Amino acid sequence: MPKDKKTLKVLLVSTEVNPYSKSGGLGDVAGSLPKALRDMGVDMRVVLPKYQTVPQKYMADTKKVADFTVHLSWRAQDAAIYALDAHGDGDSVYFIENDFYFARDNYYGYGDDFERFAFFTKASVEMLSRIGFKADIVHFNDWHTGLGPTYLRDVYKGFTFYADMKSLFTIHNLHYQGVFGREILWAVGLNDGYFTGGDLEFHGNISYLKAGITHADAVSTVSETYAGEIQTPDYGYGMDGLLRRRAGELGQIYGITNGIDIIANDPENDPHIFVPFNADTPEKKLENKRRLQEDLRLPVTNAPIFSMVTRLVEQKGLDVLSIIMEEFLCMDVQLVILGTGESRYENMFRHFAWRFPDKVSANITFSAHLAQQIYAASDVFMMPSVYEPCGLGQLFAMRYGTIPLVRKTGGLADTVQHFNRETKQGNGIVFEHYVASAMMWAIHQANELYHSPDWERLVKNAMLGEYSWHKAAGEYIDMYNKIKVQR
Ligand code: GLC
Repeated sequence: MPKDKKTLKVLLVSTEVNPYSKSGGLGDVAGSLPKALRDMGVDMRVVLPKYQTVPQKYMADTKKVADFTVHLSWRAQDAAIYALDAHGDGDSVYFIENDFYFARDNYYGYGDDFERFAFFTKASVEMLSRIGFKADIVHFNDWHTGLGPTYLRDVYKGFTFYADMKSLFTIHNLHYQGVFGREILWAVGLNDGYFTGGDLEFHGNISYLKAGITHADAVSTVSETYAGEIQTPDYGYGMDGLLRRRAGELGQIYGITNGIDIIANDPENDPHIFVPFNADTPEKKLENKRRLQEDLRLPVTNAPIFSMVTRLVEQKGLDVLSIIMEEFLCMDVQLVILGTGESRYENMFRHFAWRFPDKVSANITFSAHLAQQIYAASDVFMMPSVYEPCGLGQLFAMRYGTIPLVRKTGGLADTVQHFNRETKQGNGIVFEHYVASAMMWAIHQANELYHSPDWERLVKNAMLGEYSWHKAAGEYIDMYNKIKVQR
């Protein structure tokens, strides 16, 4: 794709980018959306921290393109920039190296996270002039990069190079708000006025997420329904008033539903799964089921496999599931779990695997390989989420002919339609209220459908749906273009 002066130039700033780093959906999105945008002619670049866990096979292909010092109040820290030509069409991925901050075992969870990610964010903005990439839009994601719009507006805009740059802040999860004591403002190079003036103040502390929402030139989130929900007290986690105000000032909070990489997630061509299949070869999907049952030491029966591949956190609806576990497991079903998270949930699944060894397989670990096998082999994929900004699991599941059973919220409401046995339309099973009886109802619906002749049709509907980035990437381009000419 030729890149002339008119080409839209965007830098996406994210603390996770698959396949270099990933702990959840943000990594998937930051890995696959830029690829789709490049294919559509956007000069799209991505920047992430150079964690020590980034596989060496990628780092080996990078070259150092800049080296500079970032000032955070009294502290001067070095940033070395490594560029990767990830798609064979010029540099597109940048790693920011600073071993003091990022040569650690995990991405998150350190006492100085406020400083690590302030450094990363500021270095990302500084990098633009160092590598001569004059972005139209700097696209920040989630609280870790929430200070980006503030730095851009108040520290960098004074320089000609940055004068026309706009910022976009995307919320992938409003619940994680980056809340720290007021005293850290000084350490990240901002004065106390950001607290006293209220811009960053949040219940007596400061919030990075609030900074992003307050100072960005535009705010977006990852589905249309969630964009509306977060402006209500039920889903706003204390930010709904601010979001309503910003929606008024900016005209809207954009909501663009995520896609998935349909090349990397293709049941006809996926090295992780046992047997390739498509919508016309359901018997091959069944073969995947048999093989998974064997591997996980579950009896090879016709019982439907219900599965979950998820971080084990409250958001994912595990409380409502815990209430119905006994009743659910008295049915002729199997349950396969993959994920790690809060110990109360990990232990709940371990407990039920011990009590019902021929019904439950609890895999309390992180495995991209097993995840694909589960998407391919199971029958019903459960996401009874309390809230769900977009959700990607239901999209992967449908692509592999596994029927999503979801609560009607956020992106789940936008991507899954309850199967209608009259019209034969719909791609999943949907329940509305976050209560045990509603979820139990949905499980019975799933079980009944599974044993009915309609199942085949439902699986086909799910598999033939359109889950690629194509539509969303077009919407991103429209949004970027609007932001670019704004004010
Ligand atoms: C977060 C949200 C999830 C969303 C993902 C990517 O992980 O919880 O719903 O799909 O971000 O945007």
